Amino acid sequence: MSSFLHQRPIQNPFTSAYPVSPRSSSSSQRPISIFSPVGLITLLSLVVILGVFLPWSGMPQSIFSTSKVSLSRWRDYSLTEAASFVAKNGTVIVCAVSQPYLPFLNNWLISISRQKHQDKVLVIAEDYATLYKVNEKWPGHAVLVPPAPDLQTAHKFGSQVQYPFSHIWFLSVKPPNHSHDLPPPGKKGRTYICSCMIFMRPTDGAKLVMKKWIEELQAQPWSKAKKANDQPAFNWALNKTAGQVDLYLLPQTAFPTGGLYFKNQTWVQETKGKHVIIHNNYITGFEKKIKRFRDYGLWLVDDHVLESPLGRL
Ligand SMILES: *[C@@H]1O[C@H](CO)[C@@H](O)[C@H](O)[C@H]1NC(C)=O
Ligand SMILES: *[C@@H]1O[C@H](CO)[C@@H](O)[C@H](O)[C@H]1NC(C)=O
Ligand SMILES: *[C@@H]1O[C@H](CO)[C@@H](O)[C@H](O)[C@H]1NC(C)=O
Ligand SMILES: *[C@@H]1O[C@H](CO)[C@@H](O)[C@H](O)[C@H]1NC(C)=O
Repeated sequence: MSSFLHQRPIQNPFTSAYPVSPRSSSSSQRPISIFSPVGLITLLSLVVILGVFLPWSGMPQSIFSTSKVSLSRWRDYSLTEAASFVAKNGTVIVCAVSQPYLPFLNNWLISISRQKHQDKVLVIAEDYATLYKVNEKWPGHAVLVPPAPDLQTAHKFGSQVQYPFSHIWFLSVKPPNHSHDLPPPGKKGRTYICSCMIFMRPTDGAKLVMKKWIEELQAQPWSKAKKANDQPAFNWALNKTAGQVDLYLLPQTAFPTGGLYFKNQTWVQETKGKHVIIHNNYITGFEKKIKRFRDYGLWLVDDHVLESPLGRL
């Protein structure tokens, strides 16, 4: 399978054309991913690291003891508190979500709940509406790391969507027997590996990559004018840490992109039963994403919304 399928089209249609994807006009929104978006990635990275490392220390009772607390208290809910509240057995599943993507979060949570891993989910709210909504329905599972981007930005770069199938990836993925080397760099001198979904353990190597990623983001900060996303910085971080860290691409069979799963029925048949998470990318727009999920029987919200810890939104 061609290598572009591991990759994510660049978000900004005005930057130079995405060199490898034949469908670079498609997906641009960000996924409910272990990893985050636009400019916030630094924070999110910290979140993940914290989440992975923090021991389960329990949440101060006081935070949840009053049933009708003012939502505004979540404004001060810290990452440390949130991560220690959701982490179970040293694991967190982190996703970044903006308000327009709440229905997609719900859809994803239904699948997660079916695998009984919902307790470990931490939603990094990209705006206050998301922070309050999630914590109202599901106290303690959303945190916002200020500053929140303005609403317009959030809409434009709202999180993408993934869909877990038969297993939860972090439990089921075995290291594939293939190269741990980076693929060859593309035209811009770096690789184009998708940063939407990452699994990592709290190793020195993972910390090194995260640290480098943060540095790269700080060196080339997201701005309205530039509209870069976190992915180039991630790829530069990979470039600069190559040889020092051990990593590999998640197997495509288990984690197909929308460009593969929704476009090639032959492939879908051949790999049946092996899909874990499908990335609903290579398509733009909420309605289109939802329609495609519906068409493929992956939009669980219609009939199973009560299986989500958020319930009906
Ligand atoms: C906790 O984590 C360990 C190590 O990853 C794993 O072997 C074990 O099955 C986990 N326990 C539960 C209850 O998830
Ligand atoms: C993994 O790949 C190497 C080299 O391609 C091969 O020698 C080895 O037998 C493979 N191992 C498994 C378990 O498939
Ligand atoms: C890192 O980037 C440089 C400059 O573009 C490139 O020459 C080199 O091959 C890259 N290294 C890896 C391992 O991709
Ligand atoms: C679709 O998948 C099949 C099986 O993996 C592959 O042989 C074929 O080349 C793919 N078609 C396209 C258009 O990529």
